[in-house]
Amino acid sequence: MERKIILEGDPVLRKISKQVVTFDDRLHQLIDDMIDTMYKADGAGLSAVQVGVLKRVFVIDAGNGIKEFVNPIINKCAGVNKIKQEGCLSVPDKYGYVERPEHVWVTYQDRFGASHEDKLSGYEAKAFCHENDHLDGILFIDKATRIKKYK
Ligand code: NI
Repeated sequence: MERKIILEGDPVLRKISKQVVTFDDRLHQLIDDMIDTMYKADGAGLSAVQVGVLKRVFVIDAGNGIKEFVNPIINKCAGVNKIKQEGCLSVPDKYGYVERPEHVWVTYQDRFGASHEDKLSGYEAKAFCHENDHLDGILFIDKATRIKKYK
């Protein structure tokens, strides 16, 4: 079920999200709803805080299908991402230029609580870093060197 996306200016987007400790049906429903919401809004990523839930959870689909991350951690970064431009479903009128790593080595849990490691590159690495920032109350407009308005 689609949920309402919270927009820039709402103080909830600046809060620090909390670790997930319970991997129950409620979490699964949240993740399913986030996926619906992201696809309906034509986004490449969505964090739980963007639907008003302060849990360390996000989903991304950067062209390789849906990926779900619970309690994600970036362990290592390398390189400079060639894709500079980025936007955010919570900042619908603007896009900006943000430098991100080309590769990230991450650990995370899935919706059942199992731990995983992964290496993401390119657009997926960029999306991961963008969403991970949301969990700490950071928006891309805080880091962008240039911010432009969509016409
Ligand atoms: Ni965003």
